[in-house]
Amino acid sequence: MKLNITWLLVLSTIIIVMLFFLAAGNTLTPRVYDKEQFQASEHIVITFSHVVAELTPKGQAALRFAQLAGERTGGRVEVQVYPDSSLYKDGEEVQALQQGHVQLIAPATAKMAEYFPFLLLFDLPFLFQNYNEVHTFIDSPAGKKMLEQARAQDMLALAMWDNGFKYMIGNRPFTSPKYFKNANIRVMPSSDVLEQQFLSLGANPVPMRFSEVFDAKETSIIDGSENTASNIYSQKFHEIHNHLTITNHGYLGYIILTNQSFWMSLPEDIRLILEEILIEVTLWEREQAIKMNELDLEKIIKTPEINVNIMTEEDKLAWREALGSIYNEFKPVIGEDYLNEALSVNESQ
Ligand code: SIN
Repeated sequence: MKLNITWLLVLSTIIIVMLFFLAAGNTLTPRVYDKEQFQASEHIVITFSHVVAELTPKGQAALRFAQLAGERTGGRVEVQVYPDSSLYKDGEEVQALQQGHVQLIAPATAKMAEYFPFLLLFDLPFLFQNYNEVHTFIDSPAGKKMLEQARAQDMLALAMWDNGFKYMIGNRPFTSPKYFKNANIRVMPSSDVLEQQFLSLGANPVPMRFSEVFDAKETSIIDGSENTASNIYSQKFHEIHNHLTITNHGYLGYIILTNQSFWMSLPEDIRLILEEILIEVTLWEREQAIKMNELDLEKIIKTPEINVNIMTEEDKLAWREALGSIYNEFKPVIGEDYLNEALSVNESQ
């Protein structure tokens, strides 16, 4: 009897160890795609991972893409959406995409600057004044070229989606640069422009994953952060930090990326359907972004504990003076042509 129990223990330990290695292999081994793989199996599963809540422009667009992909391929394609960093967080998504563990991600352009430095353009403060200007640039030959250029290390860009214009949310009014002095301000990881923006304003930029911002506010690690109304509201940042400053100082948008080997291994008819859906969803998402950000801004403003701070003309001038050299500093990294095109879009509005 004693022998049996010992053997049983040994056997279960071996099984547990084997299961562990099997699971680890599954998550760590890159998946290889080839042309033939989808002919044998009609069912194609696409995993779409992102870091924001479902009730945001990106969250809704991911769900709409999933719905239309299922409908228009007669169920052959199933898109499984994982929102809210529930599958992969900032900094993990890209590797997961490159290794084929997910097939779609939609990071903020700021977070992809490490791979595609020209995307830093979108972080430049006060470059675009409104959504129209952003879209005019994205839809211009320069914008299309930028999307085509975002292809490296088995990543392929498929579209650009909006979030919107950023405000400051913090424990003080961030109207004028004097309030930034020595304040710890969270920035999205990987963007030298965002770091420089807050250094120029006198603050300490703190690069941090989106999923960690709420706790960092609650534990006073940071004094504030920049974000759109939909991100502030859906992450409840306004429930911890009670000063919202209407700065509109920059734009936050997304680049939709797939694993290139996966995408090119899809049957052509399926790939074309999915690409058409993406064009349609991109236009739909633009409208959603405007509506959702407007509604969420109203809800934040109505929160009794929230103080809404409006910048004076003097404050705006002080911001612009502090940030004066940032365009020239980053022009070589972004590319003069891209910057000039974006500036001309801006002037023509
Ligand atoms: C996102 O909108 O995807 C997150 C932006 C952030 O990290 O602040």
